[in-house]
Amino acid sequence: MIFGVDYYPEHWDKSEWEHQAALMKEGGFNTVRMGEFAWKLFEKSEGEFDFSFLDEAIEILAKYGIKTILGTPTAAPPKWIVNKYDMLQRDKYGREKGWDARRECCANSPDYIARTEIIVNEMAKHYADNPNVIAWQIDNEFGCHASTHCYCEHCRKEFAKWLREKYGTIENLNEKWGSVFWSLGYDSFDDIILPAYNSCEPTSGDLWSHNPALDLEYRRFSSDSWVKYQKRQIDIIRKYTSAPVTHNLMGHFSDISAYDLSKDLDFVSWDNYPDNQWGGSEHEYVSMAHETMRGAKDKNFIVMEEQSGPAGWDIMGRTPRPGELRLWTYQAIAHGAEGMVYFRFRTALFGMEQYWFGVLDHDGVPRRRFYELQQTGRELQELNDYIINAEPRYDALIVKSYDNVWAHDIKRHTADFSYRDLLYAYYKANIDLCVGTAVSRGSYDKYKVVYMPAYNIVTDGELDEIKAYVENGGTLVLSFRSGTRDEYNRVRPIAVPGVFAEMSGIEVEEFDAPRRSVSVGGEINGAAKVWCDVIKPVTAKVISKYAGEYYSGKAAVTVNDYGKGCVYYVGCDLDDSALKELVRMISKSAGIDAKDAPDGVEIIRKTSPKGDYTVILNFNETETEVDIKGKSLIEGGEFDGKLPPLGVEIIKERDRKIKKLY
Ligand code: GAL
Repeated sequence: MIFGVDYYPEHWDKSEWEHQAALMKEGGFNTVRMGEFAWKLFEKSEGEFDFSFLDEAIEILAKYGIKTILGTPTAAPPKWIVNKYDMLQRDKYGREKGWDARRECCANSPDYIARTEIIVNEMAKHYADNPNVIAWQIDNEFGCHASTHCYCEHCRKEFAKWLREKYGTIENLNEKWGSVFWSLGYDSFDDIILPAYNSCEPTSGDLWSHNPALDLEYRRFSSDSWVKYQKRQIDIIRKYTSAPVTHNLMGHFSDISAYDLSKDLDFVSWDNYPDNQWGGSEHEYVSMAHETMRGAKDKNFIVMEEQSGPAGWDIMGRTPRPGELRLWTYQAIAHGAEGMVYFRFRTALFGMEQYWFGVLDHDGVPRRRFYELQQTGRELQELNDYIINAEPRYDALIVKSYDNVWAHDIKRHTADFSYRDLLYAYYKANIDLCVGTAVSRGSYDKYKVVYMPAYNIVTDGELDEIKAYVENGGTLVLSFRSGTRDEYNRVRPIAVPGVFAEMSGIEVEEFDAPRRSVSVGGEINGAAKVWCDVIKPVTAKVISKYAGEYYSGKAAVTVNDYGKGCVYYVGCDLDDSALKELVRMISKSAGIDAKDAPDGVEIIRKTSPKGDYTVILNFNETETEVDIKGKSLIEGGEFDGKLPPLGVEIIKERDRKIKKLY
């Protein structure tokens, strides 16, 4: 399997390259990703191309058995290009973005597109037949540094074009957008504005905001713009080579749809920094990020940048504890990674990222982190056949919708509501109960339970699909703020839960954003504090009721039989422990074996071409016991249930060989 490092030979004197390659080999690294920020070296001045430094680096690395993933350098254009051409983004006040910090260009600038096509073409032509180039990465982290949205004139024109293609006539657009409100009717597509005021800052406190239809379409358009920009590069590369193409996405990042961005890629890769200068993430949050990336294409992925040391820009982050790099690696593998590339090999002596540590420190001397990864790499290569083409065994699906991310940002319902947090709360409850949980969309039939929290924008097609799933015996879990908007971000003229009312067997008579916590009791006990739907059951059975506020005694959580399946409706947010109890109850009724993982432990069951196994990850810095024993696939001996601090175990489940999963 790919076990590599992100490498910047241009940061080091050539005399060091050979030694660095030898060290990589010693560390067990067999792949590097290179080139993604070296535009200035590739094209010193207009039309003067020179790939010689990279040729040499690829060659030296190859001597040590190290292959290359090549990044196109378009995230960091050189100064001569931005001096000459019009390609910098504009912020919402029309100010040009400064140059010097990468990702400053506009996906719709004809000049940026033209320069991009030229450099990518030169690069692809040059490396077309190089046997050491095994894959391509397009650009670097689209959307990073808040670069998804641009407010320049090119974007305005392209947006108008995009809308014309979608709506056909301006009358149609006006009708769908409700432009009669505040005299917002447009006479022509040329009049369309960009939602520059407040649209991307829901927390700014600024009360000004745009037509929600305009705002949502602009977010879709911005996401599409990068998908299209990426596609141009992919098309060029594919003219020259059949090497697979990827892009390094960003886990939970949601300004660009990961479904759309990954549809043209051969495989997804992503960048994982669980604990950096901005703080550490809960292990469940990282695990959900992996699943989100796996769910983008519903396929295994590669981690293209995995944290390998203390990570920070202006200040340093916490130093990963002994065993933690290995633990993060196994977490990635457990959730679908088939390759690991660590950022970066040796820590930079200069530039923005002097404090973003790599496998080696500034002095390039191998120490603890190097040896820990060396050991991890050895283990992974032994486990190769258990890793490649393995699948997590999913029972549940959390449906993530980018349309809903954006629409909920635009109209947040109440100050404390967060769609992202709600999805995470459901994911966390499931993974803490050892329920294999995908984060994706569609193909509902593969799962016993489908969670669609706050699924507010629902298209007719989606509704038909989800109905069919439940009719055929599936379990659907809906929550408050669901089913009331159409794809144009208009509210439907029906009561909450809108298009889901019939399936849920309820009516919502009123709702409340309570400002203080409201007790909930019945089969599930806990408290709500963000939202309370006051439910009138029609055919549904009541699971829990409110015990507070003027709606005390009214239903809060219900379940309804529908076809051969059933629909749960959770009318309020619930504290973590109540939500966990609810998920336990739902899982049980759907035939899922849900069991508490000890605190700080993740247990993931997988199926591979070599047989089934269970991965156990201990995120505690203390020894932790689990009630699983068996043959260890890592050490070979018997696992006695005791995990060392930050320890990992993989237990073989049974000797069963299956052919091919994909
Ligand atoms: C990533 C990026 C890398 C590097 C790293 C550490 O987001 O792709 O190029 O900047 O963060 O800051």
